[in-house]
Amino acid sequence: MAATFSMQPLERFAGSNAAIKRPKEFACFSYDQDHKFHLGDSSLKWYYNPEIGTDLSQGFDTFVKHDDSADEHLDSLLETIASHEKETGKAIDAHIVTWRGMLTKIMAAPFEDRDGFEMNATLYRGSIFIEENHQYKQASRAEQDSQPWRGPIPQEVMQYWGYKFETLCTMPAPWGETSREYIEGRDKQIVNNKEQYCSVVRTGFDETVMCLGGEVDCVWDSKTLTGVANNWVELKTTAEITSERDMDNFERKLLKFWIQSFLLGVPKIIVGYRSRDGKLLRTEELATEKIPTSILKRGRVNWNGNVCVNFASAFLKWLRQTIDDEGVWRIRRKPRSPHIEVFKVEEVGHGNIITDNFMNWRIKFSLSQSSA
Ligand code: A3P
Ligand code: MG
Ligand code: MG
Repeated sequence: MAATFSMQPLERFAGSNAAIKRPKEFACFSYDQDHKFHLGDSSLKWYYNPEIGTDLSQGFDTFVKHDDSADEHLDSLLETIASHEKETGKAIDAHIVTWRGMLTKIMAAPFEDRDGFEMNATLYRGSIFIEENHQYKQASRAEQDSQPWRGPIPQEVMQYWGYKFETLCTMPAPWGETSREYIEGRDKQIVNNKEQYCSVVRTGFDETVMCLGGEVDCVWDSKTLTGVANNWVELKTTAEITSERDMDNFERKLLKFWIQSFLLGVPKIIVGYRSRDGKLLRTEELATEKIPTSILKRGRVNWNGNVCVNFASAFLKWLRQTIDDEGVWRIRRKPRSPHIEVFKVEEVGHGNIITDNFMNWRIKFSLSQSSA
């Protein structure tokens, strides 16, 4: 029997805002150019203005593309958390542990009804760990890929544009430590999306404390060493806007841009506008916190940031009451469905959500606590 949480009527989630904890990074990790995991910030990038006019398709034939057909579960996030716990001698206090992308899907659900989603969740030592259901993701992608593509530019090339823009806008070290040759030759750099910097933050809505991990594209100036907010930057490309309809489409896209950045505390989004054939035309800086108000002000596109926050807060509270027992649970939203369902798919254990390493660490840790 599935338990269901309804999104309708949406008015339920209007009104005063749920209390939001400001996201604070407490650990980070990097994937190197071979997508190998490392604790720390070795893959962090710094922002520097890109060369306007660059052809974003340039270098497509040398794109080093990450093969995401393997299920990576929560492995890197758990390794980073375990390392942090070893360092501090304290288990993290989150009720929910997951990738930022899962929370993005949940927060966007009230206004994003075309796409469904499936996640696996398990309760382990007081926290609910949530991963994407990899089979579902693969199947949805295969379904998408099987649709005929009628655009003048192949889909893979258009997807490359986003990564190319990241390479054009970033440097592997701060400005003062990067050579002019590097900065001016960024259009010739090989684009590699295996490399990533990931931030791990503590955040929350109302009484639900969350630990989220997610990619941060780059930093504006320098990364602070204390727990204060960083000048992170999210990079996005989008087609040039030449009509009200284009603007409506862009504002619809801003829902995901805003949520994604909001959840990790990324204050600035730099949008690279491109021509239909992929030339970089200009960039624009958006302040993340101002986006929801700008949507309401223009009043053409139907999404509301307060509703997203209030909905997510209520849903997570309900989820914590629902997932109350061991085993593996499925969190499912069917496309266009007005509710999210939660049901058990495995009676015992934790599936592949929790790694052996993480469990061994926690067992060792609690033994040391009880003998202390
Ligand atoms: P754009 O967002 O500029 O199109 P992110 O912005 O999340 O850091 O992602 C970087 C790039 O990865 C995107 O650039 C896009 O090219 C690609 N990408 C991200 N999510 C995707 C998705 N769901 N489907 C296809 N491409 C995606
Ligand atoms: Mg990115
Ligand atoms: Mg980006």
